[in-house]
Amino acid sequence: MPAKTMDELVALCKRRGFIFQNSDLYGGLQGVYDYGPLGVELKNNLKAAWWRAMVYERDDVEGLDAAILTNHKVLHYSGHEDTFSDPLVDCRECKGRFRADHLEGPKCPNCGSEDLTEPRPFNLMFKTAMGPVDDGGSFAYLRPETAQATFTNFKNVVDSTARRPPFGIAQIGKSFRNEITPRNFIFRVREFEQMELEFFVPPGTDEEWHEKWIQERISWWEEQGIARDNIELLYVTGDDLSHYSKSTVDLMYRFPHGVEELEGIANRTDFDLGSHTKHQSDLDIDANVKPNTESNARMAIQDIETKEWVVPYVIEPAAGVDRGVLAVLNEAYKVEQLEKGERTVLSLPAHLAPIKAAVIPLKRNHDGIVDKARAVKNALQKEGLGRILFENTGNIGKAYRRHDEVGTPLCITVDFQTVEEDNTVTVRDRDTMQQERVAVADLPALLRARISG
Ligand code: GAP
Repeated sequence: MPAKTMDELVALCKRRGFIFQNSDLYGGLQGVYDYGPLGVELKNNLKAAWWRAMVYERDDVEGLDAAILTNHKVLHYSGHEDTFSDPLVDCRECKGRFRADHLEGPKCPNCGSEDLTEPRPFNLMFKTAMGPVDDGGSFAYLRPETAQATFTNFKNVVDSTARRPPFGIAQIGKSFRNEITPRNFIFRVREFEQMELEFFVPPGTDEEWHEKWIQERISWWEEQGIARDNIELLYVTGDDLSHYSKSTVDLMYRFPHGVEELEGIANRTDFDLGSHTKHQSDLDIDANVKPNTESNARMAIQDIETKEWVVPYVIEPAAGVDRGVLAVLNEAYKVEQLEKGERTVLSLPAHLAPIKAAVIPLKRNHDGIVDKARAVKNALQKEGLGRILFENTGNIGKAYRRHDEVGTPLCITVDFQTVEEDNTVTVRDRDTMQQERVAVADLPALLRARISG
C-alpha cells in the first residue's frame, strides 16, 4: 500500500535524513533540495542500478559524463532557445506568476482574481555569464537535458569505440530548468538529475526499437519495487509532443499527488543529429545543406555495404532520478499494524536500501562485545556490498524500529554467545521480523543473497 500523503513522505525524509530543503537556514530556495546521509545512498543506489542495467548488463551501450555548462549554439541549433518554454500568466491583482496549463479555470490560485494576463512563452533555460567580462554575449546555459551533450559527442564516441547502430550512449547527470511553479516536493524542481539513454538505430527500425524500450523500462522500474499496477502508459500526441519527437510514450506513476510522468520514452528521429550536422560550426553553416551527404556527414555513419551516409534515428528513454527516488520511497513506505502498536517500514528492494545491514552490540559498554561488533562491521564493509552501519546505541528494540523505518534489510546483533561461545550472531530480517542465529563466517553470503534478491 503506497504512502497515503506526500506529507508523510516529506516528514519521513526530513526526520530520517533523506532529503532537506536547500538553504533552509535562510528561508529556503524554491524548487531546490539537498540529499542527506540516507538520501545520497538511496539516490546513488538507484543510479547504480540504472547504470548496471543500461551499460554493464548490455553489450550495445557506452557511458558518458559530459559537462553541465553548454555552449549556447548547441541549444540554439537543438531548438531549445526557440521552443523550450512553458506558458506563463501573471495575476494583475497579487502579481503571482503561474503556468497557464496548471491553472484550474481562469482564476489566480493565490488570490482567486480573474484578472490574469494572456499566456506568453517563458523559456526554461538558466543562463550564466562565462569569464570575467559580463558583456551579455559571453554566456553559457546550464543544460536543460543531458541528451544534447550526448549528441554533440556522438562522433567522438563512434570514432573511439567503433560502434555502429544499433547502439546507445548512457548518461546520468544534473539538468536545470527554471520551472515557473516548482512543486510537489522533489517531483518538479529546478535542479534535478536525469538518467538518459540515447539509443541510435537505423532509420526504419525505430518504431520496433521504441516498443522494445518501453517494455524494457517498465521491467526495470518493477525491479526497483514499483508495482506494475501503479504505472500507466500515456501516448503523447499533438501539441504535447516535444519539438524533436515523432512519438513519445510517458511512463506515468501513481505519485501521492496524482498520476504523473516518471519517465518519457521518445522517438527523436534524426532531428538532433541532423540539426547538429547542418550547423556544426560557424564555418560551414548552411541551413539548406542536406545532412545526408558526405561533406556534411560528421554526425552520420557510413553504411558498409551501400556506402551511403546515414543519420541514425534516436530512441530515448529519459528518466528523472529525483522522481525515481520519490516513486521508490512512496512504493516502499508502509505502516503495519502489529499485535502491540504499529511499525513504519520502508520495504525497499535490498539493492536500493541506504544501509544494507546494521551491526549492533547487545551491551554498549561491554568491551568484548563492542570490539567484536566493530570487527564484524569492518569485515562486512570490505565485501563491497554498500554501507554497513556500526550502531552502539544500547537499545536493540529502538534500533530495529529505526532501521525498519529507513529500510535496512538486516540487523545483526552481537551478544555474549558470539564472544563467549560460538561466534554466531542474531540476524533479524526487516520484512519478516524473524530472527535467526548465523555464523559470522556466513554473513557475507547471507547479505549478498539478500541484496541480489
Ligand atoms: N531528454 C528528454 C527530456 O529531458 P523530459 O520528459 O523533459 O525529457 C525527462 O525529461 C525526465 O526528467 C522526466 O520524465 C522527469 O522524470 C525528469 N524531469 C524533467 N523535468 C523535471 C523537473 N523539473 N523536476 C524533476 N524531474 C524532472
